[in-house]
Amino acid sequence: MSGQDDAKVPSHEELAQMGPDELVRLGTKLDDVELVEYPDPWPVPGTRAERRAERGVALWFVLAALAGVAFIAVFVAWPWQYRDPGHQFLYRLYTPLLGLTLGLAILGIGAGVLMYVKKFVPHEVAVQQRHDGPSDEVARRTIVAELTDAGTRSGIGRRSLIKRTAGAAVGFMGLGLVVLPLGGFIKNPWSKSLSPEDTLAHTGWYEPPGGETVYLRKDTGDPTDVALVSPQDMDAGAMQTVFPFRESERNDPDKLRAALQRIDNPVMLIRFRPDDAAHIIKRAGQENFNYGDYYAYTKICSHLGCPTSLYEQQTQRILCPCHQSQFNALEYCKPIFGPAARPLAQLPIGVDQATGYLYAKGDFIEPIGPGYWERGA
Ligand code: FES
Repeated sequence: MSGQDDAKVPSHEELAQMGPDELVRLGTKLDDVELVEYPDPWPVPGTRAERRAERGVALWFVLAALAGVAFIAVFVAWPWQYRDPGHQFLYRLYTPLLGLTLGLAILGIGAGVLMYVKKFVPHEVAVQQRHDGPSDEVARRTIVAELTDAGTRSGIGRRSLIKRTAGAAVGFMGLGLVVLPLGGFIKNPWSKSLSPEDTLAHTGWYEPPGGETVYLRKDTGDPTDVALVSPQDMDAGAMQTVFPFRESERNDPDKLRAALQRIDNPVMLIRFRPDDAAHIIKRAGQENFNYGDYYAYTKICSHLGCPTSLYEQQTQRILCPCHQSQFNALEYCKPIFGPAARPLAQLPIGVDQATGYLYAKGDFIEPIGPGYWERGA
């Protein structure tokens, strides 16, 4: 015979008048549950052991709250802008720290809740017969009463330390999760800033107005060997990779090496054959970016940023080995095959009359590489 048969099912009026204890007892009977043990975890309130357990739970919530605050602080204030090689220590920690602090906040809240249930919610030993079918209204009301009773018996109402720390933990972590998407809107790396430190908006070719001349430099294999490029150095139809160089860096091995390593620095310098140069189609607004038959394009693929280092002299195509995008070098490096959707950015170049070497007349006028959240097109 089931407990539902044994227990008298109360009417709506009787149900409404029953207190929590009565509902709990009724619920166990109706569910065919036999409570073998139902001890109060802390029968004497306020003992030292109970307070110690309470502090143990609160400690986890405090940890979660501090981690939540740290997450917000890291997100807002940690150096997040790309740094040149050799100066990347703090920048490299940005993403790991975000993960660590958010992870600790979630861990702290989870551990605090687990500890609370383990230490304060009554651990009854019960035997229940299995029923078929959905629960009726009485069963639903009584199970709510049982859960409420477990919460009441855990003493949550008088455990202000746990309530406050849990509130702080959930609050700070929640605030961090709100700050996270909002921050993406607030930051504006494509600002009008002229600072060379604004590395998401400028490449290593950038020089503020009135600054030094930025020459085109070959990589000879020795980072301290400075080999500049003059127009006579290249045969018609040749291509070579060049990097930015400033005279002030000549005796600074770190800066010379960093210029070769910075990810957005490599540029393809192409000297077209006169026959080919006669058919070149220039991009609107960039008609004076070349010097005679010399054209300079970023090597960073506009698809996903691989180096587009294969120049086919016969077809005048530049190939990206990653996903086989092809760019037409005779038509401002417009993509003509593969997944890349934007041309390779062109670097404006000229010849410095004082030295006879090729130099950059300015930085790229558009973001190079793959998708960029401030990209206009
Ligand atoms: Fe160049 Fe994908 S990165 S085609």
